[in-house]
Amino acid sequence: MAEKLSTSPYKGSRDFYPEEMALRKWMFSKVRGVLESFAFQEYDGPLLEPFELYAAKTGDEIVNQQLYSFTDRGDRKMAIRPEMTPTLARMVAAKVQELPKPIRWYSIPNLWRYERPQRGRLREHWQINVDLLGGNVEQSNAEVLAIAGAIFKSFGGEQFVEIRFNNRRLMDAFFAHLELGAEGSYALGKLIDAKAKMNPEAFAVELQKILEANSKQASDVPAKTLIFQSFLASDLAGLSKIAGLKDSAEFIKATQELLDFEKQLSNRKLPVKTKFDPSIMRGLDYYTGIVFEAYDLSPENNRALFGGGRYDNLIGLFSKSELSGIGFGLGDVTLMHFLETHKLLPVNQDSQLIYIGCADEALIPHSFDLESQLRGQQRAVVSGQGFDSLKSHLKAASRVQARYFIGLLGDEWARGKVILKDLKTGQQSELSVKDELAKFLAAT
Ligand code: HAM
Repeated sequence: MAEKLSTSPYKGSRDFYPEEMALRKWMFSKVRGVLESFAFQEYDGPLLEPFELYAAKTGDEIVNQQLYSFTDRGDRKMAIRPEMTPTLARMVAAKVQELPKPIRWYSIPNLWRYERPQRGRLREHWQINVDLLGGNVEQSNAEVLAIAGAIFKSFGGEQFVEIRFNNRRLMDAFFAHLELGAEGSYALGKLIDAKAKMNPEAFAVELQKILEANSKQASDVPAKTLIFQSFLASDLAGLSKIAGLKDSAEFIKATQELLDFEKQLSNRKLPVKTKFDPSIMRGLDYYTGIVFEAYDLSPENNRALFGGGRYDNLIGLFSKSELSGIGFGLGDVTLMHFLETHKLLPVNQDSQLIYIGCADEALIPHSFDLESQLRGQQRAVVSGQGFDSLKSHLKAASRVQARYFIGLLGDEWARGKVILKDLKTGQQSELSVKDELAKFLAAT
């Protein structure tokens, strides 16, 4: 006999049975509410994009190790989207002249990355993308973080979140100061990005390798190691004490940007904690300015809750125009873990479903009339399939978790009445179809 097919979903993807789907819908509808209250508009794009869209700027790890790519029947190299930002850039670039600025857009696409599935990381996830393009840089940077804060506040979890930020320009100035060349700087950036996932010994070994391979003289390596360590341990005020750094014009500009950013954040009184952190690098290559990641302060959720940053040149991949933007992506997996950890999921909502049970074959057309009438009043209604005893209908009603049961029986119906039972309280009464039933339902 042929082997049966597996009922498991593909590794790293999930089935959403109605209960899980209800939670996902609840979560996204809250987020949509917040985003629309900030005047953000929803957009969407295709699941498939040309491979080159990601090859240009998405970064090595995603492109070389995680992309689902294939050649289509017309010999085009395609990819399933691993992130939304390149699609956003393409869509904005296509209409850059006509779109009113600033552009405030959001989307909740499902994305695919070939990851090793683990807590907080799957192969398919949904990602809330929030992006603001073409606005005043300082104002937009802070607005986007304020939105992130408002999302967590809407769930009642703002006290558990810390947003850690940095500036890619600061990192460029620092790497230039270390004189590691383009390749060494890139490698060091990737190493810093991976730091949270590595043990300290392995990190130190990799650091030495990069410094040795990219320094003109081996004798420079110990001093560079010390500079590196004090840089990563420094707060914003302490950076200028690092030997030689404070004289770099790039460094002065980058730290000023960070100070301005801190000021903007404090003006907006964010509900979540925020902190400068020189180890926030972000894996994606297109960021050019402020970058940030948010963490759950509870230790069991150690993956970033969301991440994002400013990108200056992304539209330039498609058009001569320039339009700078800032945005972030917040995944459904990490958000759901966060809500579970802090017990912020909704307790079971009371069902309001009405079940109509018909105990007499001749009354079936009337039961359908009643059903359409109730549905016309925006009530959720289901009818028992066929006529049956009241007892069987009541059982079926509780199986579908109905709140109200309406029974149509021959004698009662002849007197213009139905049976109504509140399945939560157990109260049962006879109501006239004409006015008592409508009154009762209007009051519930
Ligand atoms: P990202 O850091 O790659 O950024 O992803 C952002 C967030 O998406 C992560 O912090 C996490 O919540 C979620 N996420 C990413 N990969 C997975 C996964 N394999 N499983 C579960 N959740 C995941 C971006 O994708 C940028 N495009 C975000 C952005 C928008 N930047 C500017 N605008």
